[in-house]
Amino acid sequence: MKLLDKTSSAFLYQQIIAFIENQQKTGALSPGDKLPSLRKLSGQFEISVPTVKQAYIELERQGRVCARPQSGYYLTAQQARTLKPRPAKWSSCAPATVKCRSMIEQVHEAMHMPDTIALGISNPVQANPPDKALARLMRSVLSRVAEKAVSYGPVNGDAKLRLQLACRYQDQAVAVNPDEIVMTNGAQEALSIALQCVAKRGDVIAVESPCFFGIIELIETLGMQALEVYTCTEDGVCVERLSQALAQHPIKACVFSTAINNPLGSMNTDSQRQAIVTLLEQHNIPLIEDDVYSELYFGDKKPKPAQLYSTKGLVMTCSSFSKTAAPGYRLGWLLPGKYEEKAKRVKRALSCSTPMLQQWTLNEYIQSGDYDRHLSVLRKKLIYNCERMRAFIADHFPPEVCISKPHGGSVLWVRCQSHVNTSEFFHEALEQGVSFAPGVIFSPSGKYGNYMRISFGVQWSTQVEEALKTLGKLVCIHTQQQLGKEEGL
Ligand SMILES: Cc1ncc(COP(=O)(O)O)c(C=O)c1O
Repeated sequence: MKLLDKTSSAFLYQQIIAFIENQQKTGALSPGDKLPSLRKLSGQFEISVPTVKQAYIELERQGRVCARPQSGYYLTAQQARTLKPRPAKWSSCAPATVKCRSMIEQVHEAMHMPDTIALGISNPVQANPPDKALARLMRSVLSRVAEKAVSYGPVNGDAKLRLQLACRYQDQAVAVNPDEIVMTNGAQEALSIALQCVAKRGDVIAVESPCFFGIIELIETLGMQALEVYTCTEDGVCVERLSQALAQHPIKACVFSTAINNPLGSMNTDSQRQAIVTLLEQHNIPLIEDDVYSELYFGDKKPKPAQLYSTKGLVMTCSSFSKTAAPGYRLGWLLPGKYEEKAKRVKRALSCSTPMLQQWTLNEYIQSGDYDRHLSVLRKKLIYNCERMRAFIADHFPPEVCISKPHGGSVLWVRCQSHVNTSEFFHEALEQGVSFAPGVIFSPSGKYGNYMRISFGVQWSTQVEEALKTLGKLVCIHTQQQLGKEEGL
């Protein structure tokens, strides 16, 4: 390898930057790749480690690389156009009676279509499936439990697993009594129980805008109304807008994901989360925190649970193992706050108990330490996929398209030009073997028609790249067609 020119007027660290740029140009380094270690480059070029570090810090300052604690420096998707927070003129909403649209059904169906690259469903576990380890544990559990495997379990679930969960909250300074936890059939059932504890038909429920379509469907099923609250692309629910909404509407409860929203990937800071909880408790309004993604954070530490800031017991946390280990196990839980008694009653009425075999298996998985080791690998793979997919979309979609820069999770929120209707080419995409989630399903009032949600919870492959190219072509064609129509061509 050519050594650096120590007589040149360019500083050595600048030459290192030029070297990295060249590696990128020649394709030796791609977005998401790890840069050579400081020690390696220092040895290769016979320069000091601090000089290489200076180059990396400068690249980081320019947003071209990102440092990951205890891992190293990674190339970011420099060319991706990041979605900016929406302008202040975002029109506020009135509570809307939700109408379940068939598009949600179609997005779900597409998940099971053969020969389709499913970029429409958020399934982060696919990036690093722990199926073999879990299957081994389940076989071992099954060989020990005999007839108990086919019996009813306690209404609030397996005591050992609840204890494990309580300890995990304890690690984050949240005092949770294991007896109050209610194990549920996925987070979706936890959300349903929580809503039924605090609201009834016709009540207004505040949700983030955009928000996960499962919440919208649930609100519809329960006959409640949804009120969208402005949510910033990167920073999550806006406390000021929430305060305004509280003054204007009879909000009965809020369902938010302040620690990683789906589809934005936004995250409120811990202090904002505290401000939200304090504000809501001042108004005696329960917060149902949909917390399924908080283990999949991309920063250096896990966001603090909303429960930590509750003083009145009005925060109810819903979570599950669906995004971290096994969506098919349908295993979630609810921290019911002060609604413990009612939550257990609703759980009994809804489904009596949660399958035990899955709970015993997950308990052993956590106890062995394998769950945390798996999470650490999963997070790394998702960060890598995220950068790669942002770069790929930037390269293969029209230049006006903007892409979210998520703080975690497994989806990108992609904005096409305002005249594009992404639902219009959903079926064309399916015919060409790729699914995505059209933006309109993330809003009870039908906003976001020109957005699409694309999942990076995948095993990266050439098929995924081809699927993204297909979507890029469809966006190009529809952008042009629509422009043509508007110009009367
Ligand atoms: C934000 C959010 N909440 C809840 C759920 C439902 O989770 P579960 O599969 O555990 O019911 C999902 C699943 O996609 C989700 O994205």
